Amino acid sequence: MADQKGYGLLKGKKGIIFGALDERSIAWRIALACKREGAEFALSNAPVALRLGTLDALSEQTGASIFPCDVSKEDEVQELMQKIKDEYGKIDFILHAIGMSPNIRKNKSYQGLNYRWYQQTLDISAISLHKILHFAEEEDVLNDGGSVVALSYIGAQRIFSKYSDMNDAKALLESIARNYGSRLAKRGIRVNTVSQAPTKTSAGSGIKGFDGMYTFADKLAPMGNPSADDCADYCVTLFSDLTRKVTMQNLYHDGGFVTAGIDEEMINNLAKLYADEE
Ligand SMILES: NC(=O)c1ccc[n+]([C@@H]2O[C@H](COP(=O)([O-])OP(=O)(O)OC[C@H]3O[C@@H](n4cnc5c(N)ncnc54)[C@H](O)[C@@H]3O)[C@@H](O)[C@H]2O)c1
Repeated sequence: MADQKGYGLLKGKKGIIFGALDERSIAWRIALACKREGAEFALSNAPVALRLGTLDALSEQTGASIFPCDVSKEDEVQELMQKIKDEYGKIDFILHAIGMSPNIRKNKSYQGLNYRWYQQTLDISAISLHKILHFAEEEDVLNDGGSVVALSYIGAQRIFSKYSDMNDAKALLESIARNYGSRLAKRGIRVNTVSQAPTKTSAGSGIKGFDGMYTFADKLAPMGNPSADDCADYCVTLFSDLTRKVTMQNLYHDGGFVTAGIDEEMINNLAKLYADEE
C-alpha cells in the first residue's frame, strides 16, 4: 500500500464512487485511497444496499455525501447527476464498481440461465456504465480531462465457468468503455477498465467455487493476487493527471496472471498430483 500520507495526486479533484458496500468492497478501498490523495467525492449505491447502513462509516471517515441510486433505473441515474452537480459542481472522476448476477446468486447454470435475470446481469453490471456516462454528459457533470474507471475481470476474455453470465457482462462492460471512450476522447476524458484479480469481497465470495478461482490465480500469477488496496492505488494513478493519454484500455491488475504460463513449482506439484492416477 502507498504511503499513508499519500502523494497529493488527486488534490483539487472531485468525483463519484459507485459500489462501496462494506469494508471489503474494492470501491471502499478506492474511496480511502482517493481521500488519502486529497480528492473530494460523493458515494453512491443502490437504496437496498444503503439500508444496511454500513456506508455511513465510510461517509464519516471521508466526508463524502451519500446518494442512493439504482443504476438500472434511468430516472435515478439522471436525478443523481443533477444532485451531484448541485452539491459538488463539475467533477473529474467516476468509479464504476458495480456487479450483480441474479443467475449466479440463485445458482443457475450457464446453459439454464433465466433470461430475465440475464438481462438484469447485463443491465446492472455493464449497461449501467453507458447510462452513467450518458447522463453525466447530458447534465454536463464531467470536466474536460476527467477520468472514468470501471472494474472488470479476465472472464471477459477467457472462460471461467463459475463466473457464468458475468463473463458476458464484463465483455460488454469493456466494449462500452472503449466505445464511450472514443467519443469522449476529444474532450480529453479517459475511459478505461481495470481487470482486477479475484478479491475477497461480498460479490466475489458470492460466486460458488470462488476460493478455487482465487487460489488458482494466486498460484499462477508470478506476483500473486493483488489486494483491493493495491487496486485502489492503481485506480488513483488513473484518476490522476499522470495518465492523461491512457484511454479505451482494459488494464490488467493481476500480478502477471494474464501472461503467465506455468512455472517449475506448479509443474512439479501437478506431476505429483497426477502421478498416482497413472
Ligand atoms: N471481487 C472480485 O473478485 C472482483 C474481481 C474483478 C472485478 N470485480 C468487480 O469489482 C466491482 C466491485 O465488486 P466487489 O468485489 O468490490 O464487490 P461488492 O459486493 O463490494 O460491490 C458490488 C457493488 O455493486 C452494487 N450494486 C449491485 N446492484 C446495484 C444496483 N442496481 N445499483 C447500484 N449499485 C448496485 C452493490 O450494492 C455493491 O456495492 C464489480 O464490478 C466486480 O465485478 C470484482
